Amino acid sequence: MTKLSVNINKIATIRNARGNNLPNLVQVAKDCEKFGAQGITVHPRPDERHITYQDVYDLKPVVNTEFNIEGFPNTSFINLVLDVKPHQVTLVPDPPGVLTSNAGWDTLKQKDFLKEVISEFKSARIRTSIFVDTEIANIENAVSTGTDRIELYTGPYAENFNSNKENAINSFIQAANLANELGLGINAGHDLNLNNLNYFKNNINGLLEVSIGHALICDLLYFGLENTIKKYLNYLK
Ligand code: PXP
Repeated sequence: MTKLSVNINKIATIRNARGNNLPNLVQVAKDCEKFGAQGITVHPRPDERHITYQDVYDLKPVVNTEFNIEGFPNTSFINLVLDVKPHQVTLVPDPPGVLTSNAGWDTLKQKDFLKEVISEFKSARIRTSIFVDTEIANIENAVSTGTDRIELYTGPYAENFNSNKENAINSFIQAANLANELGLGINAGHDLNLNNLNYFKNNINGLLEVSIGHALICDLLYFGLENTIKKYLNYLK
């Protein structure tokens, strides 16, 4: 079964809108796990506009499933991750002001940088994943960075799903087949939702984990947290 890691950034966004502790991020993380989520993902950004560095410390002792911290590996992020020691770190090439992650790494151009950062995390026994698009060269070069896994950037899949799902999935099938051949673990995320998730899961061999935030948080307004998580889990069986 593919693991569902719930990205709880948006819960922090709602909390931050009022400056108090409502909703309680730690409680939401615990409840996601209670309702069956197999992981919690956070993306602390340099401006801390949703997840704060303090949130990451507060979550560490309560997350009993897989804790995944994603972000751009600048010095403060690297230090935070090494200090907190989550199960997995996902490296994302986000420039500071970007609204959301909207591209994967160029694993050829950034090979030396990624290699250095990844080896630091690996010596701390933290599993590494790097966010990539389906470009074959990016998958091939991911191997030489030393990363354990790749996270496929599914934004383009989601964008094209409604017009032509066979076309939308094509490059992802090829990228995943290559990653499997090369021994890279496969995660995926971005814009996955109740409409496009099951088709993705059914077509991607060896999909280990999906990280889902925005759509899942929107769905829980209508279905509630428990039912929403169960619906997503159902599509990942
Ligand atoms: N994966 C990465 C690397 C991300 O940056 C995000 C958004 O924070 C996600 C997955 C989840 O995307 P979404 O919120 O669209 O489900």
